[in-house]
Amino acid sequence: MTNYQLVLDYIVEAVRPQFGKGKVADYIPALAGVPPRKFGIAVCTMDGQIFKAGDADEGFSVQSISKLFVLQLVMQHFGNMIWTRVGKEPSGDRFNSMLRLEQEQGIPRNPFINPGALVILDLLQSLKGDAYQRIRNYLRFLSMNETLDSNPTVADSEFNHAHVNRALAHLMKGYGNIHGDVEALMEIYCFQCAMEMSCVELAIAGLPLAGGGYSRPHETAVISKSQAKRINSVMLTCGMYDSVGSFAYRVGLPAKSGVGGGILAVAPEKLTVCTWGPELDAYGNSYVGTAALEMFTEMTHTSIS
Ligand code: DON
Repeated sequence: MTNYQLVLDYIVEAVRPQFGKGKVADYIPALAGVPPRKFGIAVCTMDGQIFKAGDADEGFSVQSISKLFVLQLVMQHFGNMIWTRVGKEPSGDRFNSMLRLEQEQGIPRNPFINPGALVILDLLQSLKGDAYQRIRNYLRFLSMNETLDSNPTVADSEFNHAHVNRALAHLMKGYGNIHGDVEALMEIYCFQCAMEMSCVELAIAGLPLAGGGYSRPHETAVISKSQAKRINSVMLTCGMYDSVGSFAYRVGLPAKSGVGGGILAVAPEKLTVCTWGPELDAYGNSYVGTAALEMFTEMTHTSIS
């Protein structure tokens, strides 16, 4: 039996030499002030046991990790129809790149790059009811924390600087792949990205993906087995943007990152593991988090292969 607590306690110390090699995201001004040398790691096993070390209980801006959960909500409502509006191929480009979007007539490569997430959110907004409440309630349910919320300062800061995301949305609207109002879409996109969760909460929220849709702590099948399989597959091939290949080589697990410095990784049938380290590499993924996940999977022999 692996002693996860011992492994996490070791990693918290072992990653220290990696501090200072990455850079905190500053293109969203409200994120620029996050203390760079924070580090947390949490593991949640299939039976709901939690192991944690470092700043694992501190909330941070989930940013693009939210795309993983909004995708679940939208798949629950629209099923396979979503794949007519968004692809499932790695893009090989930056998460907010516009390059292929014009070449490919407004159909984003996958749901995890920004244009793909915007299309997914446009679908959610087309449903009757309050999409803000839907996102917040789903994340509260998944994380088992009824007080979870979006940080309005971070959301406003991104909204006021979301020039590239607006351009992506308008380009797609021009091609007929965004149906709703672009400003309304920007507002809710910034709201979802500014949700604050800790490593522990994200590890719990990821459990249905590890359990073929079912989660013991939630006592229910949150998504179908097939949806869990498909989301994990798209995460493995697209979740870490243009460094997805080297991340898969180093870590060996499907994962989703955010520019807040979080990474949530899923080991199917076994566990979830979430890291937080605000300093990012050149691809927008946590530098220290990637190093920590590599150590974790090497030490515990956890991988999909
Ligand atoms: O749209 C943005 O630029 C951010 N709200 C989210 C980007 C992000 O987290 C990319 N992930 N590493």
